[in-house]
Amino acid sequence: MDDTLNQANPSMSRRQLLNFFTGAIVATTASAAIYPATKFFMPPAESTDAEGGILAQDKIGHPIPASQILAQASGTRALIAGLAGEPTYLTVREDGTLDPMGIVNNCTHLGCTFPWNPVDQQFQCPCHGSRYDAQGSVERGPANRPLKLVQVQVKDDYIWISPWQETDPRTGEKPWWV
Ligand code: FES
Repeated sequence: MDDTLNQANPSMSRRQLLNFFTGAIVATTASAAIYPATKFFMPPAESTDAEGGILAQDKIGHPIPASQILAQASGTRALIAGLAGEPTYLTVREDGTLDPMGIVNNCTHLGCTFPWNPVDQQFQCPCHGSRYDAQGSVERGPANRPLKLVQVQVKDDYIWISPWQETDPRTGEKPWWV
């Protein structure tokens, strides 16, 4: 029956073949485009790791792809929700990677949050005027302790945040928060 139809109308089979390949190409292209997006609606089965790390999240609790932050210019400070939901700054380095040192946005004077000032290259607390350099060391009080650090790691485009237990590289001493 089909052969009879095809013989009677050969353009029909060519059209069907063309439709099939067009559909296949569209489906393949759409899948390739959708995969990176859907991947972040399906985070890893575990959202914590053995070191007490958690996935960095945006303000509504979705994991943030590292590629989304790394698409921004070097020197960018991106705010994410880190350990215990603490807002934490991640830094895009000149080599296009994330700085393994995350800086917790919690002033060590009385706990205000603060913006990054890219002109002065400082974190500047609006509450009582404390200023910190790009690594979170105090440049001006009343704060007298450096900002808390966390570890930042990228695995398979997921950003993992874990406690900083090692020596504080800014002071060469045991961290004050450990
Ligand atoms: Fe930041 Fe006081 S809370 S300077």
